[in-house]
Amino acid sequence: MNVVICDDYQHMSQLAAGEFIECLQAKPSAVLGLATGSTPIGVYTHLIDQFKSGSISFAEATSFNLDEYIGLYRDHPQSYYYFMHQQLFNHVDLPGQRIFVPSGVENDYGQYCQWYEDRIAEAGGIDLQILGIGSDGHIAFNEPGTVLGSRTHVTELDQQTIDDNARFFASKADVPRRAITMGVATILEARKIMLLATGENKAVAIRDALEGPVGSECTASALQQHPDVTFYLDAAAASLLTKE
Ligand code: F6R
Repeated sequence: MNVVICDDYQHMSQLAAGEFIECLQAKPSAVLGLATGSTPIGVYTHLIDQFKSGSISFAEATSFNLDEYIGLYRDHPQSYYYFMHQQLFNHVDLPGQRIFVPSGVENDYGQYCQWYEDRIAEAGGIDLQILGIGSDGHIAFNEPGTVLGSRTHVTELDQQTIDDNARFFASKADVPRRAITMGVATILEARKIMLLATGENKAVAIRDALEGPVGSECTASALQQHPDVTFYLDAAAASLLTKE
């Protein structure tokens, strides 16, 4: 795995956006795997700037988001559908019919999760996947204990994730307890992966992901099995790494 230690959040966002832009320029019809949360916002800002300056277009691209809270409709300000439109989709030319964000309000998730997997396969698989990481080592919402062979599924959120994400909601009680998420195996099928992390509250997760054993206690550790992953970190997130 490649590890790039960046000066700060801005630098990380710039470098990761650079890799993203190269991929999209090389393959305008790329299938993009997108993450929500605070961490990728800087990358999305760079992508919007590059789109506005005419350097990139999303007109032929397709996107798949990693996850969504169960119980939140698309127009809920904390839904990931809403977030992605605010942070990226409303500002670029990605066609609406090729934007896929898992739905948080399905009746039959057994069927829906398979439908989501089928859409990814039909699009030809994900070319480039952006990931953040939870302070408990989750990628997407694959919480500790999730089998590494998991596909898109519904999961219970860990208390640590509920606590971490309470900052986006009026109160902790408002944070949904369940989410639909791509599985670890779904994510590992992406041809190229970049994981972004800043801040000392991610340092343990980053150490476990990069230097710990591969196992479901830190689902990000499964990335060790992927041939093309780059971690973009600031010094605080990288502070517990011991290997060169
Ligand atoms: C979001 C996602 C999560 C976040 C992670 C970090 O789509 O899949 O795994 O990437 O919880 O969130 P932030 O960036 O807010 O620290």
